[in-house]
Amino acid sequence: MSAEKLDKSKTLFLRKKHVGPSCKIFFSQDPIKIVKAKGQYMYDENGQRYLDCINNVAHVGHCHPDVVQAGAEQMGTLNTNARFLHDNLVLYAQRLQATLPPALSVCYFVNSGSEANDLALRLARNFTGHDDIITLENAYHGHVSSLIDISPYKHHQLPDAELRPSAPSPDVYRGRYRADHPDPAAAYADDVRELIDRAHEKGRKIAAFIAESLQSCGGQVVPPAGYFQQVAAHVRRAGGVVIADEVQVGFGRVGSHFWAFQLQGADFVPDIVTMGKPIGNGHPMSCVVTTAEVAQAFASSGMEYFNTFGGNPVSCAIGLAVLDVIGKEDLQGNAVRVGQHLSDLLEALKRKHPLIGDVRGRGLFIGVELVKDRLTLTPATAEAQEVIYKLKEEKILLSADGPHRNVLKFKPPMCFTPEDAELVAAKLDPVLTGTGPAPFTARRSECRERSQQEDGEHLRRTCSATFTLTFLPVIWDKPVCRVFAPEAERRASAASRRDRRSSSSQRSQTHPEGDKLRDHTCLRLTSDRLALLASSRLIAASDFYVTAREF
Ligand SMILES: Cc1ncc(COP(=O)(O)O)c(C=O)c1O
Repeated sequence: MSAEKLDKSKTLFLRKKHVGPSCKIFFSQDPIKIVKAKGQYMYDENGQRYLDCINNVAHVGHCHPDVVQAGAEQMGTLNTNARFLHDNLVLYAQRLQATLPPALSVCYFVNSGSEANDLALRLARNFTGHDDIITLENAYHGHVSSLIDISPYKHHQLPDAELRPSAPSPDVYRGRYRADHPDPAAAYADDVRELIDRAHEKGRKIAAFIAESLQSCGGQVVPPAGYFQQVAAHVRRAGGVVIADEVQVGFGRVGSHFWAFQLQGADFVPDIVTMGKPIGNGHPMSCVVTTAEVAQAFASSGMEYFNTFGGNPVSCAIGLAVLDVIGKEDLQGNAVRVGQHLSDLLEALKRKHPLIGDVRGRGLFIGVELVKDRLTLTPATAEAQEVIYKLKEEKILLSADGPHRNVLKFKPPMCFTPEDAELVAAKLDPVLTGTGPAPFTARRSECRERSQQEDGEHLRRTCSATFTLTFLPVIWDKPVCRVFAPEAERRASAASRRDRRSSSSQRSQTHPEGDKLRDHTCLRLTSDRLALLASSRLIAASDFYVTAREF
């Protein structure tokens, strides 16, 4: 029986019709329909195999038979909430704790990384009696309201965003203190101390500092050694606690250690650790682990913590199976060996291709930063997108991230092999050769006018003459670059300022035009206007931004 229930075009049509338009898909201009997966491979509806370099959720390999069996067996026996005694819950808590420093001994089981981080903030605020949270630039910690506020990464996508103060990302390649700085760890930690001082001047108090142990969405950033120790000292002196977000990077991905915060040394132990994604190999589960003191304070508040699905017997059976497979197949060792091999191959490509500015990471968590110029570090944003689209043609799935979306990020299932690494490097080589710092031109022939029939309702609603730039790929509908269109920018800013003053319920009625303009993806450019902007050099590839998503 075919794994496909619907024709691909029908799937796409129904998705557009019934799924919220802000839920994006990979390769939005030419999405892939995946119908099955195994190990490090995914298969489309035609049986075409793709090498998966991005799914860190399928940690021990897609559909690992041991994990599937553990879940299915427990599902056929019992699934209920954690108010009943059950062995799976306590056995899993015990196994998980054994991977952590002894002080981190109390678990709360939840269902997603966002839930874990939200609970971590509650624990921190309750324990300290303080309110302020310090986060890093470019950080992403989850989609719930409490976390969107402290996730600058999400706000970069908005024009006119007013970002809350955040500490500089400890990025020694592009950040404010680089590898040539005598002590980047202390310098970046001092920036956190300054944020604390500023909060104190305003009469505010620090509840927590939250950071990924290695920033992922922020651009695969590896903090300098000793950074977290010094930050923790500043934060604890101010009465706050330290939260390590291991949602992406935990469970042995970094190879040398089970948890990425351990890369900093045994003298750094966070007060709270949050986990997610790989913990259940695709099954929705996650966990917060903290100290007995923090947990006791939470209990002393008198409020029960209940979570309908967190820690249910099926999730815990799956969690146990994931830990078993990591051990049985020595996936942590594999991350060391294959991660090193992949890094070496990428370093070799760096020597050959000036487009690669930096190769960094640990284990099977590697970033390749593309730059137009190694001295100025001008981000090669459009080129990164081009690389990704070309690799997709080669049946390799990769994505780019970071504040400039110019960092190719590798975080494959941990069963990735040396041969997989060699295949990626072999395919990447000619792609990089063919991907120059593209001189930007917008020729009429490169724009595709789309007919009303093709685009249906939406086109009719927006305008009659829009164009999709087929030569500027868009991934996940994250804009490749921004349109520099002064008049539209000005009107968009004004509209959004007015919007902020009006209530959200009035917004769309009061400023229907403003809504469209504020979202720069809706700028409507005729091909002539576009060509004019390009030829007059008012726009360059790096500040050009048109996505096809509205068209
Ligand atoms: C570092 C980090 N923390 C938290 C989250 C939120 O996890 P979830 O999507 O499972 O809610 C994510 C998701 O991408 C993440 O990357």
